[in-house]
Amino acid sequence: MKPKPRYVRIFDTTLRDGEQTPGVALTIDDKLQIARQLDRLGVDAIEAGFPQVSLGEAEAVKLIAREGLKAEVCALARTLRGDLDAAIACDVDSVHVFIATSDIHIRYKLNSTRAKVLKSAVEAVEYLKDHGLIVEFSAEDATRTDLEYLKRVYRAVVEAGADRINVPDTVGVMTPKRMEQLIGELAREVKVPISVHCHNDFGMATANSIAGVEAGASQIHVTVNGLGERAGNASLEEVVMALYSLYKFKTNVKTRAIYETSRLVSELTGVQVQPNKAIVGENAFAHESGIHVHGVIKMPLTYEPISPEIIGRKTVIVAGKHAGLHGVKQKILELGFNPTDVQMKEIIRKVKELGDKGKYITTTDLISIASLVCGQVPPEEKTVELKELAVITGTHALPTASVKLEVKGKEYIASETGVGPVDAAIKAIRKVTDNLVNVRLKEFKLEALTGGSDALAEVVVKVEDTQGRIASARAANADIVRASVEAMINGINRLLYLAGREKTK
Ligand code: KIV
Ligand code: ZN
Repeated sequence: MKPKPRYVRIFDTTLRDGEQTPGVALTIDDKLQIARQLDRLGVDAIEAGFPQVSLGEAEAVKLIAREGLKAEVCALARTLRGDLDAAIACDVDSVHVFIATSDIHIRYKLNSTRAKVLKSAVEAVEYLKDHGLIVEFSAEDATRTDLEYLKRVYRAVVEAGADRINVPDTVGVMTPKRMEQLIGELAREVKVPISVHCHNDFGMATANSIAGVEAGASQIHVTVNGLGERAGNASLEEVVMALYSLYKFKTNVKTRAIYETSRLVSELTGVQVQPNKAIVGENAFAHESGIHVHGVIKMPLTYEPISPEIIGRKTVIVAGKHAGLHGVKQKILELGFNPTDVQMKEIIRKVKELGDKGKYITTTDLISIASLVCGQVPPEEKTVELKELAVITGTHALPTASVKLEVKGKEYIASETGVGPVDAAIKAIRKVTDNLVNVRLKEFKLEALTGGSDALAEVVVKVEDTQGRIASARAANADIVRASVEAMINGINRLLYLAGREKTK
């Protein structure tokens, strides 16, 4: 019989250590949104914040604790009485209490002694246990602490009632081998669950965390997108996916929600994910070179270690100078064009020509090239034309848009409200055109082409009709609503044109 995979607890500290990323400050609402998403994702514990840092932070922790989440909600505290009371007042399930134990921290930061630190740690744990809380104790800078003293501290806090001990590699100096040795030593000393908390100063955080688990730790501290002080913490997506795919350990994380969680955290923190970041980076499942694309189209596992769908993503084929026929053709078909073999060759020639000039080929470029080669919708075949557009937005009224469209020579006016002016305008267009073609907006991408508040906005839409025909279209305008409306109308015209051509075949 196969042994049962071991379960690893995921303790997420995006809202605490992650928020300590330079330049990041989340509002209470942002924190609540992220906490709810982490709970949906299935993490076991959420470190919601450090209540003593500000009133807003305490309020956020309190509100998260009251959300009724499945995850354990935890607050951070130093061993100081004020910190402990601030954490207790938040009605959290657990407190993560810490004090530094390395000589360098004790001397220069705390101006204290090993004996005083030990006493303070024990008293803090006893105080929290007297208040009925689950207690996780961290010896800050554990990995640079004298080993015998570290063992003494951990033994003492466990005796005082600590439910778990956490081993922080505060400045990210561990290697997997040393982590394995350290956790092995500590596992022989204490009988409570051991957790690891690794920083990424040398890019070793994921490997070190997993080495800790292999040596007996049962919990890993992580942050979404690897946010955190300096080079960040062990990233949730890397740790969870490596545990799942490479080590066959079990976690409670619903991997399909990983990508959407990464996007939400990036949006709310304003920290962009580097394109080549493992698992969640823009390029993590993107392929350009002809050889790779050919392989991936035939059998995705040729150049993908896992199916992107497992984490809620899709394979992306990029057209560029390294691209081959298969990749560009797949992209062009996805965009709703149906070129002949000769047209396809011409599209590839143009793609490579642009690539050779050092240009990154965007979807918009592909639409322009394909439209040029396969033929634009001829002006006389354009069924829908925008005559007028008006929008109203404000703080007191729902965003409203009115459009006047000419359809086959006849004018129609429609108004709609929406979550924003673009949504309202697209709804108004569909009100007029739905009896011609029932379109579903499959994709909507907005990009600023230039900088400044007068930037040219470029909108690319992908629309689908009820027969499954797909068309992509673009439009650019300094007015975002106008660019969106024109792109949508171009898409509708293209769908009608494709349907008309099919009928005449
Ligand atoms: O990295 C660290 O040492 C910490 C402590 C608060 C545990 O984040
Ligand atoms: Zn940390």
